[in-house]
Amino acid sequence: TNAAHANVKIYLLMDSMRSFKNEGYSLEVNQAEVKLTSNTEEGIHRALASLKQLILLNETDGSYFLPCVKIEDWASFEHRGLLLDCSRHFFEVDVIKKYIDLLAFYKMNTLHWHLTEDQGWRIAIDKYPKLTEIGAYRTEADGSIYGGFYSKEDIKEIVAYATSKQIEVIPEIELPGHSQAAVAAYPHLSCTGQSVPVANDWGVFKEIYCAGNDSVFIFLEDVLTEVMELFPSDYIHIGGDEAPKVRWAECDKCQRRISEEGLAGAEELQSYFIRRIQTFLSENGKQIIGWDEILEGGLAKGALVQSWRGMEGGIEAVKHGNQAIMSPTSHAYFDYGLDAIDLKKVYSFNPIPAGLSKEEQELIIGGECNMWTEHVPDEKTLDSRVFPRLLAMAEVLWSDSTSRDYPEFVERVQTHYPLLEKHGVQYGKESVA
Ligand code: ACM
Ligand code: ZN
Repeated sequence: TNAAHANVKIYLLMDSMRSFKNEGYSLEVNQAEVKLTSNTEEGIHRALASLKQLILLNETDGSYFLPCVKIEDWASFEHRGLLLDCSRHFFEVDVIKKYIDLLAFYKMNTLHWHLTEDQGWRIAIDKYPKLTEIGAYRTEADGSIYGGFYSKEDIKEIVAYATSKQIEVIPEIELPGHSQAAVAAYPHLSCTGQSVPVANDWGVFKEIYCAGNDSVFIFLEDVLTEVMELFPSDYIHIGGDEAPKVRWAECDKCQRRISEEGLAGAEELQSYFIRRIQTFLSENGKQIIGWDEILEGGLAKGALVQSWRGMEGGIEAVKHGNQAIMSPTSHAYFDYGLDAIDLKKVYSFNPIPAGLSKEEQELIIGGECNMWTEHVPDEKTLDSRVFPRLLAMAEVLWSDSTSRDYPEFVERVQTHYPLLEKHGVQYGKESVA
């Protein structure tokens, strides 16, 4: 029977006359042919992902068969992402590529790549070599050195690989906080100018970029210029979360900035900081994404807000007419244990909160699962946190919310475990029980 099926014709059709919704496609399999139709490259890739799933899920004793189907399919949300923190712990290029494969296989479309932190700067910047010479390495409490970074060649390789699978890579360059590794490399960037080590424990650190020093903005513009050369995405994530204002409160330069700009205080100074970076990026054709703290002190027009402290930041953003991405700690934090967020909890996630108008709902462009890696030192642990929970997030963001049936979903998840194993994924459990 396998031989009889070898003559099936496969068509990839770009049909510009038909309109498909978000990354939509049709897939038709009959005895004679396999026909994938879309009007976008993304749509064709999502159709190929479905085809691949159909084949791989229909294996018996090493032979595959392709069931006859007729599928019309499209994405519910245009932004379907995984945040991967490669700063707290560093993951090799091959691991990133494996994750890009898996994102594509599950029709996610965004890798949000967290590249800078207090505990490590992971992206090579030609103009500031100490960012990686010093900032990419920390001395652990036991005296050992931990670190690593991505060269520009590594990044080009990853971006090209992702692009070939229609996955967008959005780099995150954190500011003004979570910047101690940069300050360790270049102490003049902080308010005190004092030398600090790359952080070797977890938390929120007060050595942040000085908002009163113009050389900080020159530095960041230089860094972002090199970042923009590497990443074709329309978006740059600029962080914005968890920036303690203690140093700004004691800093003459920051205080002078507050009075010269007529700002009410430190929160408005953060808003000034973000707006100044946004203006620079926007002049270069890029849109910013920031964590929901960028709402404090006045939200910059056109900024995309990523809501993490619940859904409230996202709600406030869309009420301002800004777009939002939802990744609340309640459902989307994959660093949390299964006692807090199990598979069922992720599957129950709805990025659209109650009480929004139709226009406001449309400003919520999607969601992300956030994989912070303070307690994820290796690939095995990473796999066990991300899987199987990613399957739930992928379905929540792709499929229609009226189709949720958890028991039926869990049954389907079982059929994916052998595929994940073949992909080298050391998946974790579904729940604590
Ligand atoms: C965050 O979890 N600090 C965005
Ligand atoms: Zn300062």
